[in-house]
Amino acid sequence: MSEQEANLSQSNFFGHPIGLRTLFFTELWERMSYYGMRGLLVLYMTIGVVGNPGLGWSNVEANAIYGIYAGMVYFLALPGGWLADNLLGYQKAVLYGALIIMLGHFTLAIPLEETFILGLAFVAIGTGLLKPNISSIVGQLYADQDERRDSGFTIFYMSINIGSMLGFAVCGYLGERIGWHWGFGAAGIGMLFGVIQFVYFRSQLGTAGLNPNEMAEGRRSTLRLWTIITVIFFAAVVISGVLGLWSIDPVFFAERFRDFLVVISFIYFGYLFFFAGLTSFEKKNVLMLLLLFVGAAAFWSGFDQSAGSLSIFTRDYVNLTFGSFQAPVSWTQFLNPLFVVMFAPFFAYLWVFLGKRNLNPNTPIKFAIGLIFMGLGFIVMLYAVQYAMVEAPVGVQWLLLTYLLHTFGELALSPVGLSAFSRYSPKKYLGQMMGLWFLASSLGGVLAGLFGGEATESGLSSMTPIFSELIYYYLIIAAVLIVLSFFIKGSLKER
Ligand code: PHE
Repeated sequence: MSEQEANLSQSNFFGHPIGLRTLFFTELWERMSYYGMRGLLVLYMTIGVVGNPGLGWSNVEANAIYGIYAGMVYFLALPGGWLADNLLGYQKAVLYGALIIMLGHFTLAIPLEETFILGLAFVAIGTGLLKPNISSIVGQLYADQDERRDSGFTIFYMSINIGSMLGFAVCGYLGERIGWHWGFGAAGIGMLFGVIQFVYFRSQLGTAGLNPNEMAEGRRSTLRLWTIITVIFFAAVVISGVLGLWSIDPVFFAERFRDFLVVISFIYFGYLFFFAGLTSFEKKNVLMLLLLFVGAAAFWSGFDQSAGSLSIFTRDYVNLTFGSFQAPVSWTQFLNPLFVVMFAPFFAYLWVFLGKRNLNPNTPIKFAIGLIFMGLGFIVMLYAVQYAMVEAPVGVQWLLLTYLLHTFGELALSPVGLSAFSRYSPKKYLGQMMGLWFLASSLGGVLAGLFGGEATESGLSSMTPIFSELIYYYLIIAAVLIVLSFFIKGSLKER
């Protein structure tokens, strides 16, 4: 054991490898910047908030751009993961990602409309490099049989939510009260703290995620060359767009992006099923993962409306005055991460409690529970909309309840989904299957933008029909998951 390794194995972070601390704080600052900025995004693109006008784009357009952005962020996790696997190694991918994200937020801090999309593009690209790969390093801190792995991921999930609370609080206040670009700048400063911290403490990761896959140098050079050509091509496309050489209707683009994501997901599942040479047992598991994929995409399509339609509803129809204090609109988004931190231990305990009595629901049922909570959250919104039609503004308790239900849904679905994708995926395809898990979030993000746009197109009157439609569709998918869970019970065995 080298001196460095000996030091690393002695120091620890809550009984975990010390490298987890480095990743904890990097992810905390990254999520602070991501959610802090995202909380402001749709408000800024539309009419803004009282005393602080925005760009004045329509609700439909703003939601579509938000959806494209949210979708891109997780779609780019696929090339981001590939680059780390094959060319960069995970540690470098995280570092470069963090730097690009920071550059993105600082670009957004420039008070120019022309550089807005460029800033978003940088944040999306950087997040694609950072987000999947930082989770991979968390996994690599533990030996295969290390029992601390799951609790390591739980601690890591806390960093995500503590970071987002910080982001909504700081960027939300600065952006809405001082100026939008101050909020975006604060996100950049947050990411800067993350970068400094990562550079300073990176050595504590030891060799976890240090090197890319082994391969012949010749092959690596070829891959590098193709990567550079691809990057130059897409950079040219984005830059020519920023220079105004082409433009595209955001709703049209969001719809095509949605179609593209659906098609590539099904092609990939089809390939796995028919051509990947899987055993019939593995095929059954792939079918179940397809089912979970649909459930997860549907779930995020509702969940991600927090920063879209729900944010617009909050601004226009919710009373945020407490005594003489008027709370910023984006502060209401603080509720989700707060509830996650409060209730995550309860959910973890619940599954163990039920498990001991042999009552632990299987994964599709947990997904159905997640979707039912999502539906219930929107049922509460239907009441809120109804009351707002009679007399606006309505009290903040409606949002409190909606976000509480949405968080319960998240806790039933998100951690379980992640572990199902790592457990039931054919081993050879593990990395790519994790990519599919992110693809479900990506599709959910675009759909959230499209639905959110339709819901807010003509104020309150468009909300009731769209939210009702969404409720039906969540409940139908939940019902299908419940029915099918009986058929695939036999296949739910561990590898
Ligand atoms: N709050 C989670 C996060 O930011 C949401 C999420 C779950 C995102 C799964 C992507 C994939 O990490």
